[in-house]
Amino acid sequence: MKRVVILISGRGSNMQAILEAKLPVEITAVISNRPEAKGLEIAAQHGIQTVVVDHRKHPSRGQFDAALAEKIDSFQPDLVVLAGFMRILTEDFVNRYQGRLINIHPALLPAFPGLDTHEKALQEGVRIHGCTVHFVTPTVDHGPIISQAAVPVLPSDTPDTLAARVLEQEHLIYPEAIRWFAEGRLHLEQNRVEMNILQASTYSLRSPWSA
Ligand code: GRF
Repeated sequence: MKRVVILISGRGSNMQAILEAKLPVEITAVISNRPEAKGLEIAAQHGIQTVVVDHRKHPSRGQFDAALAEKIDSFQPDLVVLAGFMRILTEDFVNRYQGRLINIHPALLPAFPGLDTHEKALQEGVRIHGCTVHFVTPTVDHGPIISQAAVPVLPSDTPDTLAARVLEQEHLIYPEAIRWFAEGRLHLEQNRVEMNILQASTYSLRSPWSA
């Protein structure tokens, strides 16, 4: 069974969705860079080993990443899952886990990398927004896309209502992507993800809907 380490910084709702999806993987640890992260309690309730590598205790980004990598490697993971891990990672760190480090971003990449994606989507007036699971490269919120989910943006939306609609989809597509990884269905070909899965359908997603 593939071994998975999950990195969090806060709430941990994506981590929780992954733990509750009963995937055919062994979650060997949940690591947080913040001791106060709520997700640590949730992980412990699920009987998962939790670890804190506090970034404030390391003088530089490089030293923190080295300490984090040492801790991660002690669990010998096949896959490292960033689930709301709010740290920019050094190139050395990212390269060390090339092809086995994935992230979820609350936007349809390559649109809206970075923070405050829901505010930006509303400011731009996009009609469709969503989330993306991708392999991580040294460029922040960039890398070969595994899956995406789209949601409509409604005229009445606030950043919070839009975030909630997107989060619901995050909780579906992240466990699914990890399942595909665990089943060996994902392959990187020239910086694109080739997938060995049946496409459910070929319909387009439109917003606003037409009758
Ligand atoms: C999610 O929206 C995720 O896409 C982003 O940070 C948020 C983390 O939420 N990277 P949670 O900690 O998983 O609840």
